[in-house]
Amino acid sequence: MDRLVALCKRRGIIFPSSDIYGGIGSAYDYGPAGARIKRNLADHWLREMTMKHDDIVELDSAIIYNPRVWEASGHVGGFNDPMVECSECKGRFRDDHIVSIYLCCKCQKSKVKKTGVETREPTTENETACEICKENTDWQRIETQCPRCGAKNSLTPPRQFNLMMKTYVGPIEDESGIAYLRPETAQGIYIDYKIVMETSRLRPPFGIAQIGKAFRNEITTKNFIARTREFEQMEMQFFIKPGDNEKWCEYWREQRWNYLLDLGVRPEKLRWHEHEKLAHYARAAWDIEYEFPYGWGELEGLHDRGDFDLSRHSEFSGKDLSFFDDSVKERYMPHVIESSSGLNRAMLMLLCEAYHEDVQDGEERVYLSLDPRIAPVKAAFLPLVKKDGLYELGHDLFKSIQGRWRADFDESGSIGKRYRRQDEVGTPFCFTIDYQTKEDGTVTVRWRDTLQQERISKDQIPNFLSNKLGII
Ligand code: GAP
Repeated sequence: MDRLVALCKRRGIIFPSSDIYGGIGSAYDYGPAGARIKRNLADHWLREMTMKHDDIVELDSAIIYNPRVWEASGHVGGFNDPMVECSECKGRFRDDHIVSIYLCCKCQKSKVKKTGVETREPTTENETACEICKENTDWQRIETQCPRCGAKNSLTPPRQFNLMMKTYVGPIEDESGIAYLRPETAQGIYIDYKIVMETSRLRPPFGIAQIGKAFRNEITTKNFIARTREFEQMEMQFFIKPGDNEKWCEYWREQRWNYLLDLGVRPEKLRWHEHEKLAHYARAAWDIEYEFPYGWGELEGLHDRGDFDLSRHSEFSGKDLSFFDDSVKERYMPHVIESSSGLNRAMLMLLCEAYHEDVQDGEERVYLSLDPRIAPVKAAFLPLVKKDGLYELGHDLFKSIQGRWRADFDESGSIGKRYRRQDEVGTPFCFTIDYQTKEDGTVTVRWRDTLQQERISKDQIPNFLSNKLGII
C-alpha cells in the first residue's frame, strides 16, 4: 500500500488536498492521470448500467435537498456512529474500531478480545457464546486501549455522533437555514423516481443510475482513498413489483460480480459478505468485499430496501408515490433493489490490482496493468531521437489519432526512461518511431505487460487501436 501511495504521489495521480497548507485530514486531489482513471471508471460503470440494460436511465440530482428528505430517510435520527474520546490524547475514534477486552457476566472468568471491525453494523456485546459457560451471555467491557496513544481505559463511554455534514442555505445562519450535504446519492433518486418514470415512459421493473459526490463526517478516515469525508458514489436503484425481490437480488448480485471479473479483478480477491444485522432501511444486504493490502474490506453493497424509502417519502411529503399498473388494475408501492458502489474505493481496488513491480534489464520497473478501458492514456508516441525528421514523423502520427483516443507524445529522455514513465501510469501501448519508419513506414508497438514488441505499418495504427481497445 505504501508503495502504491508513493507512486500515486510521485506521478501526480492522487495526492493530499491543500498540501501547501498542511492538508486537511483525508481529502485527496486527483491529478491529470488520476482524474482520467476516475472518469473512465465512472463512464464505464454508467455505460454498463444504462447501455447494457435498456430499462435503466441516468439522473443527476442536486447535492443539497430539502432537509425533510433526511428526516424521511431516517438519516437525521439514525445515521450515527458510536464515538469515544481519549482523555489522554483527546483523539476521537469510532467505538467499533477500538481494541477492547470483554468479561463474561455469567462466569466472570472468560475474557474475549475484540479488535476493531470495518463495519457500520451495530456490534452487540452478547453475540459471542462464552467458551466456559458455553451459553450466550452478556459481556462487560473491562479494558480499552486508545488506538492512537495506547493509553489503557482512557476512553469515554460511546456517544452517538451524526455523520451528516451540515451547512446553511441562504444568508441567515439559524435553524431555519440548516441543510445537509447528501450522505448518499440514493435519496435523490427516490425523490425524483416518479417524474423520471413518467417522463421516460417507464414502469417497474426499471432502474435509475446516478454518479455523484456524497459527504460523511467520518470520525476516523483511513486507508488512503478508501474512507474519506468527501467521496463519490455510483448508485443504481432498481424499482420492482413487491414479491420479486429475491429474483432481482439474485440477478443484480450476479451482474455486479461479473462486472468486476470483466474488469480483470481476480476472483480469489473477491468474496460476498451477507449482513446479519441490517441498516434501518434494508430487508437484506450483501457486500462484495475485496482483499486490499490492509485486509478484506467492503467494496460495494447490494441491498433489498423494500418499500422503506418510497413509503417514507410518501408519508413525509404527502405525495402519493405508489404506482398503478393499469394492465392488471393494481396499485402498489414499488420495492427497491439497490446497487451501491464507491467510485474512489473502486478506483483504489483497481489500482491495487494493477500495481506490479518487476525487473527489466537489471532495473526495477513499476507498472500499472490497468484495463485499457480504464487506463488514462491509451497510447504513447515516442520518436527514438529528436533529429533527422523522427520528431516530426512521430508528432504527425500522434496528431492523427488525437481526438479519437487519449494519447501522449514524449520525446525527452532515453527511450527506456520514456517507457518506464508510460508503464507507471498504465499506458497499454507505446509506438516507437525510428529510422526504419522512414524507410519502410513501420513503427514498433510495445505492449506494457508482456513487453512484447512487433512492427506494424504506421497506417495500421488506428486499426490496431480499434481492435485492441474497442469502443472507449
Ligand atoms: N445508499 C447506500 C449506501 O450508501 P453504504 O454501504 O453506506 O451504502 C455504499 O455505502 C458504498 O459507498 C460503500 O460500499 C463504499 O464503496 C462507498 N463509501 C461509503 N462510505 C465511504 C467513505 N467514507 N469513503 C469512501 N467511500 C465510501
